Amino acid sequence: MSPGQQIAHGATEHELSELRMLIEERTGICFDASRARFFNLRVEQHLREKHFERGTDLLRAMRKSNLEYEALLERLLTQETSFFRYPGVYEAFEKRVLPELHVKKFWTNPRTLRIWSAGCSTGEEPYSIAMTVSDSGSFADSWNAEILATDVGRLSLKHAHQGVYTGRSLNNVSEKQLATHFSAVPGGQQVKQRLRNMITFTQMNLASAVYVGRMDLIFCMNVLIYFSEERRRALVSRFYETLEPGGYLFLGHSESISKMPVKFQAIVLNDCILYRKPTAEEAQESVLVQEGRA
Ligand SMILES: C[S@@+](CC[C@H](N)C(=O)[O-])C[C@H]1O[C@@H](n2cnc3c(N)ncnc32)[C@H](O)[C@@H]1O
Repeated sequence: MSPGQQIAHGATEHELSELRMLIEERTGICFDASRARFFNLRVEQHLREKHFERGTDLLRAMRKSNLEYEALLERLLTQETSFFRYPGVYEAFEKRVLPELHVKKFWTNPRTLRIWSAGCSTGEEPYSIAMTVSDSGSFADSWNAEILATDVGRLSLKHAHQGVYTGRSLNNVSEKQLATHFSAVPGGQQVKQRLRNMITFTQMNLASAVYVGRMDLIFCMNVLIYFSEERRRALVSRFYETLEPGGYLFLGHSESISKMPVKFQAIVLNDCILYRKPTAEEAQESVLVQEGRA
């Protein structure tokens, strides 16, 4: 196909490539050959609905106005999610991670647990985290849990903030959780205020290094898969720096950090892998062991 040939509604191959680069440069989201069809169809739909005749018109508008840029970005985001998406992860969180942090932080004052849900989509993930903390006996009353939930998509954050859900997304919520943490409202089930108070929703682009303070836990599930290898590495290193020693990183099932330049301990539990940042003493011991072996 020649570079000037139009393949989407009014967009040439060259313009599509410019659009891809613009999105990747600003967000890290990479549309490689396996996602080209999805990308082209969404751009085509966008051009049609926004009445742009040619790809260059859209590019010009996006470079001039952030609103135009975000309008296309929203169309390109994959925001599939659900409550307790990987039940094994939440089981490991409840049975292994929370008790460990309980012991580690028992004497700290104030007893605060800081959790970041990075790429939270429409909110099911941070609400699942909040429910797990709230339902775990040892944490529920004596701890102050602060959950920061961020996403680049404004529309999904608006949904997350309202906290109203229906249908398949609630499949893994038990009857008991539904009765305890939700109220029936027109349009579905709304998360009760008590859980909503635990979460701060904020728009944040993971491709820009924004300081969020130290975190005990970071959930970044099914986000890295959309990034290039280079961006993935940069983000995982940032997560490592952000975590408290002894803190955990939770990734999606198909995401691995085995070849990354950071020294997480990989802990295999049930059907999931948890990544733990070693404490200073543990890191020192492992260096000594390695040196001893050399
Ligand atoms: C497939 S969803 C995952 C939602 C949830 N973490 C889960 O596993 O169910 C991926 C989310 O990552 C967000 N995302 C993609 N690129 C991002 C970026 N550069 N900064 C922040 N969020 C991003 C998308 O908007 C989307 O909501």
